[in-house]
Amino acid sequence: MQVNVVTLFPEMFAAITEWGISGRAVKQGLVSLGFYNPRDYTKDKHRTVDDKPFGGGPGMLMKTEPLISAIHAAKHGLHGHQQDTKVVYLSPQGRHVTNQDIIDLASLERLALVCGRYQGIDNRVIESEIDEELSLGDFVISGGELAAMALIDAIIRFQPGALGDDGSAQQDSFSSGLLHCPEYTRPQVVAGKEVPKVLLSGDHRAIDRWRLKQSLGATWLKRPDLIDRNKLSNDQQEILDQFINEYQT
Ligand SMILES: C[S@@+](CC[C@H](N)C(=O)[O-])C[C@H]1O[C@@H](n2cnc3c(N)ncnc32)[C@H](O)[C@@H]1O
Repeated sequence: MQVNVVTLFPEMFAAITEWGISGRAVKQGLVSLGFYNPRDYTKDKHRTVDDKPFGGGPGMLMKTEPLISAIHAAKHGLHGHQQDTKVVYLSPQGRHVTNQDIIDLASLERLALVCGRYQGIDNRVIESEIDEELSLGDFVISGGELAAMALIDAIIRFQPGALGDDGSAQQDSFSSGLLHCPEYTRPQVVAGKEVPKVLLSGDHRAIDRWRLKQSLGATWLKRPDLIDRNKLSNDQQEILDQFINEYQT
């Protein structure tokens, strides 16, 4: 998969290219990242990348012409790539990113991510160049880079071979529509609390059932909206009812 990023700060992306799972995936070539800096597309001697908003007001916007040139380059590649590239602008005004968005984006061959800075970008650039606006949530950060990195990291987790065990992504929260069950590691007693006995039993059927119950329970307690959204099977509903009964007594 080719992910091209339009950013004034390509160096920031070392955070995902140099470390951990994402760093390994990039080094193995499972995902190839390209960076397109609007500054490289400026024509004035100061290499200006910001501009004043029409109508006045505080703050600056990204300068339009170098931004559009960088987006075109990210879309078509340095060699005039003809394949479709989806262009996403990271924006607090976008739809909140979901796990399904990540799965959909991870299945693309080419993706371009546009990182805003300052007060953002000219609305006509959004209308003419951007296929979709996606947001990390209802808060404002100073630039799209952290949001783009979060997206790329999540996308990498769905590339075959990126995780040590390909089943891990399926186990993660949201993949089944539920939160991941609570997990425990050594020692057996932490802060006076024992590990749930079933996990030491070696009975894998019982462990699987316990994990499903805890996963349903954690989702019901922490994210009841997910329970409302996903229609539970009769079996799942029965297990959740058991959890609720035990929780309430
Ligand atoms: C300071 S913000 C601009 C906010 C803009 N003036 C507004 O209120 O909608 C600068 C850039 O950070 C990025 N950004 C800020 N918050 C974000 C969020 N919640 N999700 C994704 N990107 C975000 C966007 O790329 C945006 O262009």
